[in-house]
Amino acid sequence: MNTIRWGLVSTARINRRVIPALRQSPRAELVAVASRDLAAAQAYAAEWEIPQAFGSYEAMLQSDGVDAVYISLPNTLHAEWTIYALRHGKHVLCEKPLATSLVEVDAMIAAANETGRVLAEAFMYRHHPQTKLVGEWVQNGRLGDLLSVRATFNFAMGSRNNIRLAPDLGGGSLWDVGVYPVSFAQYVMGGPPQQVFGSQWLGESGVDELFNGQLVYSGGRLGQIASSFRTPYYTMAEVVGTNGRLSLTRPFTALDNPRRQLLFFGPDSDDPVEIPVPDEYLYLGEVEDMHDAILHGQPSYLTLAETRNHVKTVLALYESARTGQVVGV
Ligand SMILES: NC(=O)c1ccc[n+]([C@@H]2O[C@H](COP(=O)([O-])OP(=O)(O)OC[C@H]3O[C@@H](n4cnc5c(N)ncnc54)[C@H](OP(=O)(O)O)[C@@H]3O)[C@@H](O)[C@H]2O)c1
Repeated sequence: MNTIRWGLVSTARINRRVIPALRQSPRAELVAVASRDLAAAQAYAAEWEIPQAFGSYEAMLQSDGVDAVYISLPNTLHAEWTIYALRHGKHVLCEKPLATSLVEVDAMIAAANETGRVLAEAFMYRHHPQTKLVGEWVQNGRLGDLLSVRATFNFAMGSRNNIRLAPDLGGGSLWDVGVYPVSFAQYVMGGPPQQVFGSQWLGESGVDELFNGQLVYSGGRLGQIASSFRTPYYTMAEVVGTNGRLSLTRPFTALDNPRRQLLFFGPDSDDPVEIPVPDEYLYLGEVEDMHDAILHGQPSYLTLAETRNHVKTVLALYESARTGQVVGV
């Protein structure tokens, strides 16, 4: 086997970003799409030139014609369908956040271990060369001792008819886009924070539409994260060490935007040096990483331990925002 036959679990909007990655990879073949509604699946299959359409997720996951699936369901449905897919022999690339409770995350990891199938969180920016460069700069000590990290992901939600506003579907800005700063901070700090303090602003539906978090790491190092549905698109990240800082204008999305810059501000001058970043389609890395894991048994680049810590940190931040207390992670 050198080609993976992929199926899409749902007709979600995000699929349109992942489909080009599947088409770009010589090791992928997009063979099927499933929807709760057969007519919707058929229309989607026609629009995207996908050979097979299924009128239920079960039907596609039970078929022998699919090796791996991409799960792009609302957050609270990730666990149920990931476990179902794994138990039916499929490898799973599941959208972020992997799940909204640690009980679910642990059940998903257990199902992957029991079935021997690959499971990975679809955190595309973690695979991009820009993110990997930041990791190299931190690890090889070019910033000196790392002291703090700051990151933000804001956008203005257009329609209010959105899964992101539904409490029962795992809505909320922290679950949706705040997970990027949480993940970035964990990546550069080399692990989750020891304790967190969160503050949120709840919208009409009861989910946080603004979230700010303070994170404390070992050695007293600090992190600050923010997310929002209520303010214009803005993403940033900054990694600060004793020898200088890295500043990213597009750390998470729109990495092909001409305004994307990775800048180094050194110790002696306020003039930044731009660090060149190789171009790569943002969603390609996560797909190729699945192929390496499935076809060659390589460990996933984004480990399930790292993913579990994303969820653990988010849950601690929400608990802190609810109780007004500092919460240990
Ligand atoms: N990595 C990224 O860049 C990125 C970007 C955006 C979103 N995401 C993640 O991708 C996932 C989907 O987000 P999205 O914005 O693409 O979602 P979306 O467009 O609202 O699609 C979600 C899909 O889930 C299916 N679904 C099943 N039960 C549902 C229910 N009760 N309510 C609504 N939909 C239901 C529907 O497909 P059928 O009707 O076909 O069954 C629907 O099309 C989320 O986990 C989100 O965090 C990731």
